[in-house]
Amino acid sequence: MKTIGVLTSGGDAPGMNAAIRAVVRTAIYYNIKVFGIERGYDGLINGSIEEMGLSSVGDIIHRGGTILKTARCEEFKTKKGQNKALNILKVFGIEGLVVIGGDGTFTGAQKLSKAGIKTVGIPGTIDNDLAYTDYTIGFDTAVNTVLDSISKVRDTSTSHGRANIIEVMGRHCGDIALYTGLAGGAESVIVPEVEFNIDNICKKLIQGKSRGKLHSIIMLAEGIGNAFELGKQIEEITDIETRVTVLGHVQRGGSPTAFDRILASKMGGKAVELLMDGKSGRVIGIKKNELIDMDIDEALSIEKEFDKEKYELTSILSI
Ligand code: ADP
Ligand code: F6P
Repeated sequence: MKTIGVLTSGGDAPGMNAAIRAVVRTAIYYNIKVFGIERGYDGLINGSIEEMGLSSVGDIIHRGGTILKTARCEEFKTKKGQNKALNILKVFGIEGLVVIGGDGTFTGAQKLSKAGIKTVGIPGTIDNDLAYTDYTIGFDTAVNTVLDSISKVRDTSTSHGRANIIEVMGRHCGDIALYTGLAGGAESVIVPEVEFNIDNICKKLIQGKSRGKLHSIIMLAEGIGNAFELGKQIEEITDIETRVTVLGHVQRGGSPTAFDRILASKMGGKAVELLMDGKSGRVIGIKKNELIDMDIDEALSIEKEFDKEKYELTSILSI
């Protein structure tokens, strides 16, 4: 393996820069030429590609976002788009490709792998929605960002004796709501994986108020109805003043936590080693604190199990 490329694709996530740095520096350490591809598969199709040196990834390990930029590219989903990409890879002499992103990005990589380009995927998304790995890069940072906001909302909530609904991201996965609900001491957690009952939520709020609780936090994963409508309903049923905070894209930014930087550094290094070993169509993950790699098709076929234990514990601890 003499030449590889690296790209970030899909939604960005804190820690992507640390992963890029690890790929570039590991490759150079082993005398492999490394190209940075801008804006994911869009840059690959359009030849937006530059060679990276040791200093091109200096001063980025602590930065959110991705220096390579990212995009969602519809054209790459077509055979024509993929053929364009294969042609560009040939022009640049790129034999191996590291893609950093989520399941869509991995599906794209698998197509290139089947066409003869050696590919390795690194999981980068705040959603933690990839079943084959315990954690994705960016999730821990997003959880900590949300926790910081919960603490702030809690201050004002306590002063006013209010309930607060905090809506967080996650697409179809409730992990951000679940982890922050447990770590932030929320009264209730509403996630796509568990059907919710508004009467139970309200009962808990009323019980809490009657035993002197000064505030209540309800974590809501995005996509489950309208947070503001839910707030109105809760206010009507409980007579507790209720406010709504939709955190939005603040969850995707910020300096990555130590956990995400270390995870990204380890995964970036391993991605290059797998390519050097001639592996292709693999994705890297972390299971029980050990790095693993797995066939992309197999990884994408695993269904994510919802962590019921954490969900029930959150409920028990908020009586
Ligand atoms: P994520 O990687 O975070 O899941 P997306 O689902 O938006 O994000 O996918 C990122 C990009 O991966 C898409 O914009 C597209 O370029 C590529 N991709 C997604 N699905 C496919 C597919 N079925 N075939 C080829 N490329 C795909
Ligand atoms: O996949 C990451 C994510 O932030 C999801 O949690 C969210 O649903 C989506 O991306 C938002 O996408 P966009 O940045 O395109 O609005």
